[in-house]
Amino acid sequence: MAVTTSTDHRVRFIAGVLLTTIPLWLLAWHFRVHNPLFVSRHIPIHNAWTVDRETFIQEWMENQIGNPPNRSAISYLCRKPEIKWRPSVVMDLDDANGGIGNVRGNIFDFLGLAILTGSSIMLPSFQSRSAEDLSSLWNGKIPFTTFFDTEHFVATFAAACPKMEIYMPSTNHSLLPPLTNRYGMPSMRQDLWPETVGTETPNTPEAAVKNFDSWLSAQPDKSTETTLVSVGRTLWEGLDTRALPTAVRRDFGNSLRLIPEVRRLAAIVTYNLALKYHLHTIDPRLPYYPSSFLGAHLRTENDAKAAGWLDNEAAAAHANYTGQTDAYLSQALEHNLPIIYVASGNATETSRFAEKAWSLHSINVTSKASLLTGPDLAALEALTWDQQGLVDYEVLRRCSSLAGFARSSFAFNIAITRHEFVDVNREVLRLRPEDVRREDVAFEDGLSKIWGRFEWQEERMLRGAWP
Ligand SMILES: *[C@@H]1O[C@H](CO)[C@@H](O)[C@H](O)[C@H]1NC(C)=O
Ligand SMILES: *[C@@H]1O[C@H](CO)[C@@H](O)[C@H](O)[C@H]1NC(C)=O
Ligand SMILES: *[C@@H]1O[C@H](CO)[C@@H](O)[C@H](O)[C@H]1NC(C)=O
Ligand SMILES: *[C@@H]1O[C@H](CO)[C@@H](O)[C@H](O)[C@H]1NC(C)=O
Ligand SMILES: *[C@@H]1O[C@H](CO)[C@@H](O)[C@H](O)[C@H]1NC(C)=O
Repeated sequence: MAVTTSTDHRVRFIAGVLLTTIPLWLLAWHFRVHNPLFVSRHIPIHNAWTVDRETFIQEWMENQIGNPPNRSAISYLCRKPEIKWRPSVVMDLDDANGGIGNVRGNIFDFLGLAILTGSSIMLPSFQSRSAEDLSSLWNGKIPFTTFFDTEHFVATFAAACPKMEIYMPSTNHSLLPPLTNRYGMPSMRQDLWPETVGTETPNTPEAAVKNFDSWLSAQPDKSTETTLVSVGRTLWEGLDTRALPTAVRRDFGNSLRLIPEVRRLAAIVTYNLALKYHLHTIDPRLPYYPSSFLGAHLRTENDAKAAGWLDNEAAAAHANYTGQTDAYLSQALEHNLPIIYVASGNATETSRFAEKAWSLHSINVTSKASLLTGPDLAALEALTWDQQGLVDYEVLRRCSSLAGFARSSFAFNIAITRHEFVDVNREVLRLRPEDVRREDVAFEDGLSKIWGRFEWQEERMLRGAWP
């Protein structure tokens, strides 16, 4: 009898369990079917634990904004019927310079001008930074391949913009020398300079083309054959990016892809970061990781100091080392991110920040140099100072929350790229200079926050920098 009773109990217990769990299970099933968030949980987890290192690296490298390339997007610019193609006019960007943010700005302004005037181009080069003195930016021209993937660039324009010929400085020397006078492009940014609307020289792309036409016809030494024109650099004075369709903006921006060596190192850094700090949500196929780490650009190196960037008046209290690190820590806390990946060209400052973050908030701070070992670290160390910074540029593009400093176009350009991930329905990019901004924050869109202020740059970059 005792046995029967116990069985009865068990039967009753199981029935009870079933009666309560079946409805719960049905409810969960209902949710899974009807809620896309639940469905996505059932896609197998894809991260540094479930794929091997080489697959992770390959997938990481294949996925980014502007991929797969949509050539019809770039050809949108080159197909404009008003463009008068003149392949015998070859433009050469004379003096692009600075770090990646500025060099990208110089090159895109130049490309916009070349396309709209129907010119050919010399593959752009730029000035190198001195290894001894980081403030010294004029140390001779260095080739495009120092930063950018030449093959990708040439293939992109060959397909999307076949009428724009690209000359290689190393193999097409016969063109030299250029015209004696250098051409300076007027701004195309009517949004920045609206007061000139209605005057004889409005700041429009059309006016810039006209300006070039009359400048060229006035040059005494222009030849009837191929003419090389040196073009002075401009910075974020070219096309108004926000006036273009999203696909065009993304794809044009992606034509300047960083060199594969740098991108591969960034993929390895991310792989090691995921493993070391157990970041399971880092899926190499995602263009950014919604909840894994804060990416911070600590811009306190000696050249920034020398330029006066760290003086407080310049950036409303978030300028110096204390100001930047306090701001970045508050952002990590706000977003509940216990890991900070810091981009800095100064190892001493990086470890100071790590000690501070750990002692105040038990937040781990890491960097590319501490995440690479052996041959990977050697490959990093073989790069120049600016090239090493490019590894950070790539890693930061995908962080969960980006923290940067307003004086730097490096962080600001990443923020503008990341803004492409923001749902267009909640687009909050402050588009116009007159829009109200916080006194101490240059940019904030939920994915990125640029601390401090630098109005000159904000006004130009918001609509002038490419993702
Ligand atoms: C490619 O670009 C064109 C032109 O902007 C756009 O109409 C089209 O939707 C884009 N295609 C994709 C897959 O994004
Ligand atoms: C530049 O030189 C390369 C190699 O010699 C050649 O294939 C290419 O056609 C030249 N480009 C132009 C625009 O002349
Ligand atoms: C790095 O920062 C330290 C102060 O923390 C400074 O003494 C040193 O000169 C800096 N080096 C560079 C390259 O910025
Ligand atoms: C850094 O800036 C803060 C104000 O934001 C100021 O109180 C502090 O003295 C500055 N530190 C240095 C070392 O200049
Ligand atoms: C985080 O930093 C602390 C203090 O430096 C260290 O003890 C700990 O091992 C770090 N965590 C990881 C996962 O490395």
